[in-house]
Amino acid sequence: MILLSFIFLLVAVVRINDTSPRLPDDVLEGNPRVAFMFLVRLDLPLDFLWHTFYENADAANYSIYIHSQPGFVFDETTTRSTFFYGRHLSNSIKVDWGKSSMIEAERLLLQAALENPTNQRFVLLSDSCVPLYNFSYSYSYLMRSSRSFVDSFLDMKEGRYNPRMASVIPMRKWRKGSQWIALLRSHAKVVAYDDVVFPIFKKLCKRRPPLDASKGKQNFKLQKQHNCIPDEHYVQTLLAMNNLEGELERRTVTYTSWVPFATNMEMKSWHPVTYTYASANPQQIKRIKDIRHVYYDTEHRTEWCKNSAAIFPCFLFARKFSRDGAMRLLTEENFDASASLHKSP
Ligand SMILES: *[C@@H]1O[C@H](CO)[C@@H](O)[C@H](O)[C@H]1NC(C)=O
Ligand SMILES: *[C@@H]1O[C@H](CO)[C@@H](O)[C@H](O)[C@H]1NC(C)=O
Ligand SMILES: *[C@@H]1O[C@H](CO)[C@@H](O)[C@H](O)[C@H]1NC(C)=O
Repeated sequence: MILLSFIFLLVAVVRINDTSPRLPDDVLEGNPRVAFMFLVRLDLPLDFLWHTFYENADAANYSIYIHSQPGFVFDETTTRSTFFYGRHLSNSIKVDWGKSSMIEAERLLLQAALENPTNQRFVLLSDSCVPLYNFSYSYSYLMRSSRSFVDSFLDMKEGRYNPRMASVIPMRKWRKGSQWIALLRSHAKVVAYDDVVFPIFKKLCKRRPPLDASKGKQNFKLQKQHNCIPDEHYVQTLLAMNNLEGELERRTVTYTSWVPFATNMEMKSWHPVTYTYASANPQQIKRIKDIRHVYYDTEHRTEWCKNSAAIFPCFLFARKFSRDGAMRLLTEENFDASASLHKSP
């Protein structure tokens, strides 16, 4: 009897912990911070450029979180920038591209960043992202907006929506968009603590495996499966389902240059360009920084890049950059903080 009641008590305690994640109060003491959340494969090859970016920042205005491979530690042996020491999550998971582990990693980053109540903006970045402006410009840009920046558009033609989701996710709420988001704290919580939409994605939104001759007839079944890429749909769809689209700028602040390339499987597929030393030239960087609107052809929508009703440059960050490309950005005048180049490691 005693043992039984002890077990019940234990279960009750665990359940309380489960159903109500302990949210820190959002009372703000000190400056509001931008949480920079890096989702990386292993290390941060462009740390030298980010180092210059943070060197010109106020330490009270930002925090850094990194999701890398489990067990990978950021210290003096793995990064040249002290800003990244110890910033890796200790509970990181193994990420498979095109699987729900990608959005799970994103949620782990948000959960960690939400623990600090002064974090008010949450920016997701990859290991090939570069900043296009100095810290103070990026900080004011993000703080000035009372909306999240989430690239989001209707996606009806690709067949990634799986009708089996319909009981939870109605088709009219299905969205597509870039994974690289910048969220307000209230939206960060919606994503971090969602337990309705995430399980459905885990089950029904998966990348279709490539054709594999050795699998023979099984390919019929595999190729009929809905080809879905969770990270291109999850946040957009979740926020639409929570009727939060009115609180978004429906665009990303992270530039990607897409080019078509042909594969055997699909007639046409899109591939992000990597900027190398040659292509990361001042003209290209200026072209990216001068962009003031984006066009969404599935909706025939031209999105002017607004921030608190004024028109602004669309992009604060850009991907994908090689090490040489990022080095050129650092040395050319187009990166405002280049003055401190010689102090950089
Ligand atoms: C419940 O959560 C608190 C705070 O996060 C933790 O200290 C405690 O160990 C948890 N209890 C159980 C039974 O998980
Ligand atoms: C930061 O960049 C902005 C816009 O490019 C510029 O106007 C400003 O002077 C720069 N500030 C610093 C501290 O370098
Ligand atoms: C740091 O934050 C404060 C308060 O928001 C702001 O006034 C200041 O300009 C920020 N500093 C930088 C370098 O962005």
